[in-house]
Amino acid sequence: MKGLKKLLGLILAAMMTMSLVGCSSGSDNKEASGDKLQQIKDAGVLKVGTSAEYAPYEFHKKVDGEDKIVGFDATVAEEIAKDLGVKVEYTDMDFDGLLGALEAEKVDVVLACMTPNEERKKSVDFSELLYEDSNVCVVKKGKEDLVKSADDLKNLKVGIQSGTTQADYVTNVLGITGAKQLKRVPDLMLELQNGNIDVIVTGKNVAEINIGQYDGLSIGNTTVGKEVAESTAAAVKKSSDKVDNASFIKSINTTIKRLKDENKMDGFMQEALKLAE
Ligand code: ARG
Repeated sequence: MKGLKKLLGLILAAMMTMSLVGCSSGSDNKEASGDKLQQIKDAGVLKVGTSAEYAPYEFHKKVDGEDKIVGFDATVAEEIAKDLGVKVEYTDMDFDGLLGALEAEKVDVVLACMTPNEERKKSVDFSELLYEDSNVCVVKKGKEDLVKSADDLKNLKVGIQSGTTQADYVTNVLGITGAKQLKRVPDLMLELQNGNIDVIVTGKNVAEINIGQYDGLSIGNTTVGKEVAESTAAAVKKSSDKVDNASFIKSINTTIKRLKDENKMDGFMQEALKLAE
């Protein structure tokens, strides 16, 4: 009888513990189905996904002897974090892995000169535009007239960065199947220098920085690429029944509005261009 009482007591205690655990995991669930903005504030960290090989937007630079991710988008990331009262933590990866990282919630936001387009809008939400640029063709010095029309690209060895809007333009819009796709823009520049490709379609600011760093390269005398948007916006995972991202996007847009009202964006770009030189 004593043994039975003890057993009942134990079962009761176990049930109470379980219900307590149940309660706390219940509130965890509630938090999981909570507000992304609050979660970031609670964590004290804004997890930013980027691909830091795209100067002047995002690139590595030694600052006071320390390797840092800097550039236009990085400055904006700092401003967003400042307004939230949190610090920035970067995950640097290949550009074509960024949307997957958002989906898997490895990062809270992507700031990587990612241009909003219809395809991407199916899977992520974009903030207001941060900055607008255009695309150009990078060629070897002396070959500035190599590309006169988009059709010319079909007979040339074209280099593009995987997963980008430039890659989409070359492969899907122009239907070029043999283009060389690499993960990093600097590697494309080396391929062009070495004569393994004839032309790279990339952003104008990015092209200008890179031709200053890779000898023998130049921007082509053509408007080819101009029709493809090259703008940057912050990308955030779409809200789900688990996480509500609406207030997070709203707060990013509030920071962007503040920066635009203060006329900061051009200055950020000038600073980034100087840092990248
Ligand atoms: N704007 C282009 C796109 O959205 C290229 C971006 C590449 N960004 C980078 N960090 N490498 O696809």
